[in-house]
Order: sequence, then C-alpha cells, then structure tokens
Amino acid sequence: MYYPEEIVEEVRTRNDIVDVISGYVKLQKKGSNYFGLCPFHNEKSPSFSVSPQKQMYYCFGCGAGGNAITFVMEYESFTFPEALKFLADRAGVRLPEAEYSREEREKADRRLEILKINKVAANYFYYQLHQPQGRYGYEYFKKRGLTEETVRRFGLGYANKTSNDLYQYLKSKGYGDAILKDSGLVTMEERGAYDKFWNRVMFPIMDVNSKVVGFGGRVMGEGEPKYLNSPETLVFDKSRNLYGLNYARTSREKYMLLCEGYMDVIALQQAGFVNAVASLGTALTAQHAVLLKRYTEQVILTYDSDGAGVKAALRAIPILKEAGISTKVLNMKPYKDPDEFIKNLGAKAFSQRIEEAQNSFLYEIEVLKREYQLEDPEQKTRFYHKVAQKLLEFEEELERDNYIQAVAREYMVPYEHLRRLVNRLGSMPGAVSKSAQDRQREPVREAERKKEKDDGNRRAQRLLLTWLIERPELFARIEGILTPEDFVEPLYHQTAELVFAGHRQGKVNPAEILNYFINDEEQYREVAALFHARLEESLNNEEQKKAFSDIVYRVKKNSLEQASQKAADIGELQRIIREQAALKKLSITWE
Ligand code: GTP
Ligand code: MN
Repeated sequence: MYYPEEIVEEVRTRNDIVDVISGYVKLQKKGSNYFGLCPFHNEKSPSFSVSPQKQMYYCFGCGAGGNAITFVMEYESFTFPEALKFLADRAGVRLPEAEYSREEREKADRRLEILKINKVAANYFYYQLHQPQGRYGYEYFKKRGLTEETVRRFGLGYANKTSNDLYQYLKSKGYGDAILKDSGLVTMEERGAYDKFWNRVMFPIMDVNSKVVGFGGRVMGEGEPKYLNSPETLVFDKSRNLYGLNYARTSREKYMLLCEGYMDVIALQQAGFVNAVASLGTALTAQHAVLLKRYTEQVILTYDSDGAGVKAALRAIPILKEAGISTKVLNMKPYKDPDEFIKNLGAKAFSQRIEEAQNSFLYEIEVLKREYQLEDPEQKTRFYHKVAQKLLEFEEELERDNYIQAVAREYMVPYEHLRRLVNRLGSMPGAVSKSAQDRQREPVREAERKKEKDDGNRRAQRLLLTWLIERPELFARIEGILTPEDFVEPLYHQTAELVFAGHRQGKVNPAEILNYFINDEEQYREVAALFHARLEESLNNEEQKKAFSDIVYRVKKNSLEQASQKAADIGELQRIIREQAALKKLSITWE
C-alpha cells in the first residue's frame, strides 16, 4: 500500500517524538533536549538524545537516529507500513483504506479465518496435553527437559489418538469443511474427514507477530515421519517463516542463532538464548535471509554437526552473505545439535562456544581442507590454489588482504607467498573476479589516492549540509554560489534539494526531510546523522570561518571537475572552465 506524503507527514506531526519515545525509554530533560539510555546498543551513561525542536532522536554512541516513524520501525522491528499504522492508531489518524477487489477481499477474509482456526486448534492441543489422555505427551516433553513455563511459552500441545476429534471440535465451533480443508489441519477423503495430526506432540508455528500459521507434530519415540508439518496454506509459507523469531526478535542481541529444529530453538531459548531461530527442516532460503536481516546483522550458525549439517551450513553462508548478513559457525562437537549440547554441557559452555564461533570463510576453508591430504605436496599445492581462488571472491582489497593474513596465520603459509599466489591467479585470464583482476593492473597507490580524495569530497559535502541545517544564516552566504546539484553524492544531492527548498520557504524541517529516506535504513541513518553532527565544536571561531570557505570551495571545485568529465559538448566545457576560473577569484565569507 502506498501512502501519500501528506498522510505520512500528518501521522508524524501528530505523534510528538518525546511522547512516543518516552513510552520506551526513560528520558530526562537537559537544556532543550532530552537524554536517556540508548535502546539500540548497550550503554551505562545516556548518549541517546531526543530533540523536540527537530522532532528527531540521535544516539551519539551508536549513531542510531531518525524521527518518530523510524524509531518505532527500529524498536518494534516494524516495516514502514506497520509503523505508520501503529502511529496512526496511536494518534487517532485514519489511514486511507486500500481499494481491494472482491477476490482480494475474500482471500483476506479466508486468511483471517484460517488464522482463527489455527488459534482454536492450538488451544485445543494445549488443553489436551494437560488432560489425562495427554499424559503420554506431557511426559514426553518432561523427559526432554522442558519446563511447564516453556510448554506454555511455545504453546506446545498434544494431538489425540482418535483420528478426527479435532475435526469434530472445529465443526462444533461452526467452521465448514471447505475452510477446514484449506487450513491444512484436516484431510478430506472419500470415507470422511480426518485430522492430519494424531497421536503426536504438537508445536504451533508462529509468525513474527505470534500468530499461529501452522503446526509441526512429532511422534513420541520412534516412527515415520518423525516430524509431520502443516502443508503450505494461505497463511503458511515455509520459505518465509522462521520458528522462534517472534521471541528472538525482541532479544536485543547483536546476533541470532540459526539452527535446524523445533527442539533446538526451544532448548536454546529455555537456556536463556532467546535469540535462537530455526528454518525447520527446509533449507535456508533467500527470503529467510531477508527476514533475518530485518532484525540482525550477524548470524551464528548452530546447525547439526553431522554431514548434513555441514552441507546445510555451506549452502546457507552465501545466502546470508547475499542478504548482507555476516556469518559465523559454531562448533557443537562432540554433540549433534544444540539441544543435546545444552543438555550435556549446559548454557555456560554454549556461551563459550558462541564466543569461539568461527568466521564463516575460515570455516569454509576448513571444510575444504578435509578433501585434501596435506602430507602430499601435490595435493597441498592444489589446496592452496583452491584457497587462493576463493580469496579472490573478496572484491575489496582491504578485506581480501585481511583474509589472506588470517589464512596465512591459520595454515602456516608465509603471508607473502599466499598474497602473491592470489594476485597471480587474479591476473590470469578467466580469474574468478573480474574486478579483482582489473584492480590488479591498476597500481594500488593510485586507487588509494583516489579513494582518499573521494572520501574527502564526500566529507566536505556532508559537513556543508550539516552547517546549512544547523546555522540557517549561512544559507545566504552560499546562495548563488552553490546549487543542490553541486552536492554530487546522490544521497547528499537529494538532501540538499530538500534543505535548499526548506531555506527558501524560511524553515528547514529535519523530521519531514527524513521521511523521504524512510524506506532505506542506511540512507535515513546517514541523513539523520547530518542533523546531529557536532562537527564544528572542536573548531574555534577563526578556524570555523576558514573551514567554511574551504569547504564551499571544495564542494564547488569537485562538482565542476565532475561536470567537466561528463560535459557533452564544447560549449558546456567552456562554460565549466569559465566557472572554474571564477571560482578561483571568489571569496566566500562566514559573516
Ligand atoms: P528431535 O529428534 O526431536 O530432537 O528433533 P531434531 O530437531 O533434532 O530433528 P532433526 O535434526 O532430525 O530435524 C530437524 C528439523 O527438521 C526438525 O525440527 C523438523 O522441523 C524437520 N524434520 C525432521 N524430520 C522430519 C520429517 O520426517 N519430516 C519433515 N517434514 N520434517 C522433518
Ligand atoms: Mn534433536
């Protein structure tokens, strides 16, 4: 659903940021701002500030920053529409309803109906577990070390031995055959309707909002299949659901533990590792990874230590990487899975293993090593070649070099030898990474110089923007000299357009400007930082004056340089050259 900007602005302005954040963080007034402990990182003294004037928050410790909407997005892990809805409800703003077709409406109704059925069924299973007929199931969970509290928290249950009692029960609640079939809880056969699950302990599968979307049922003891899962339904998509995420997302750990099964998640969470989730038997998908990325930057793989688990880990690593998640791999040996590990060695030992979890690249290399007999010089050489090939996958020079160092250390190869091998393979035709090969030809120093210059130019644009926001009077000094186009960095260009427009209307409105960037977390963070930088504090007045003119000069010069490279015809080039000459004579003053 697309919401028009006016609506978004209305929702934002009707929710005072100090009010909103006070609901989550204890704030204290200091001067014109409020301060509190940052909810986005661990800290002991408050560096989290909220500005009523700007209607923004900013943490000087971790750089988190934004407006009321981004705050609830981050804190509650809401998507933008979810956050907007939440704040609209809070302030009593009516959001426009989407226009649905009849089919869409019916489908939405059926989804709601299935969710209701699932909830009723989960309650039914939970109730049965605590009845005499459910004793067998209850003892099973007890035997596996689960507490009553855990049983309740995960809503565990029991499906009776009778083959259609859930069906009868749901019928008695007024649900028809068609929708019961669609729920996946009932199978329709010629001779009648049967429960899909019977004589199993039951695990309701919840989505991030703790809605029951499906079930897993385990045989108690031996039997096939060990686990039976709900089929995919209107509300259950296996490739997009992670078991335990409804709890894990609130854990506020910097990483998540990703494991294979129900019991692993439950055992880990019971032992205090609330940040454990599982993809439930299905291999990790790109959608899982994107979902995870909403809540964390880092995943620690705690897959089974058997061959299948290793294979699954090797598959998962690139998928997570693609989603922008960095991965480590936890060594579970000598136990098979987290559940067994915790049972045998306890939570403290598991924490230790988390500490020791291995960087996923080094893990991949270690697994690779098992295919070679390193006592044999020829195999050893082949192994190193393979490693060097893999190292070429790192596009960025610095990162690649860090890994070359790490591998050299770990495998006791001289660093220089390995580096040369990597470079040589990289410059060979058909090398894995084309850009690595290109860089190879380009002298390194040249690349570094260019990067430094780019960074400097970006810094200048950023600083200037901050100045234009913090000190409105400076706008008059640069008007006529600079235009938003001179901020060549695309994000700064966009921001500059908004800041310039604000000045021309007499007021820059930070929180409103931020709304434009709300769909991209990285962008809004960076723009939010612009409004809070304390860049000039370290400079005295004289230095500031000088810095200001230097920076304006630098931004303009860089913009002209870029324009001249792109100039389409000689006329344009001449105009740029004239401007460049004029720039040399220009004096820009602070006052
Ligand atoms: P426990 O034996 O109860 O500790 O389970 P586990 O989680 O250790 O089992 P395992 O490692 O064998 O499987 C991991 C996950 O794969 C399970 O939690 C299930 O989600 C899924 N799974 C396991 N066996 C089956 C099966 O027979 N059928 C289906 N559909 N899924 C299964
Ligand atoms: Mn297990």
